[in-house]
Amino acid sequence: MKEFKVLISEEQINQRLDELAKQIMEEYKEKDLMFICILKGSIFFTVELSKRIKNNVQFEFIEVSSYENNENTGKIKLNKDISRSIDGKNVIVIEDIVDTGRTISFLKEYLLEKNPASLKICSLLDKPSRRVTEVEADYVGFTIEDKFVVGYGLDDNQDYRNLNYVGYIEM
Ligand code: IMP
Ligand code: MG
Repeated sequence: MKEFKVLISEEQINQRLDELAKQIMEEYKEKDLMFICILKGSIFFTVELSKRIKNNVQFEFIEVSSYENNENTGKIKLNKDISRSIDGKNVIVIEDIVDTGRTISFLKEYLLEKNPASLKICSLLDKPSRRVTEVEADYVGFTIEDKFVVGYGLDDNQDYRNLNYVGYIEM
């Protein structure tokens, strides 16, 4: 295991998750929710956030890829689709990080065609300085500067997802 600097500690993440869960519960009241977890980066975030939410939550999983060896190709490929209808559901797409915004733009357009009652984006991290498409998440855990981060689900070429904090390598 490489040595990483801590950018966001587990305690900071936990505290922010409490706040995000509260915000979501206030906005959706008693409504049932459908979380769409974007594999694989947002698995930790999806699980930890949903455990804090008192509404009934259903889950779907979708997998897209945009990065080849951390080199953004600009192309989004759908690797795995959701397996059930989201028609009439209050959907929240759970993402690990919004970087260029291409993934979220693609998924928003793709999922809106499937007729959800509502569709929002919740991202653990946001790197607004890297945006190439005009898109914003509705709920953001932390806004960060332009650093390549790993941990809490985020990978470097599939490694280091299981760190319990968000870290980076000092250049
Ligand atoms: P976007 O389409 O450029 O917004 O990229 C979104 C995807 O790129 C995320 O779901 C991540 O998988 C990946 N990504 C972007 N920045 C980072 C990073 O700093 N660390 C790890 N993965 C990242
Ligand atoms: Mg990734």
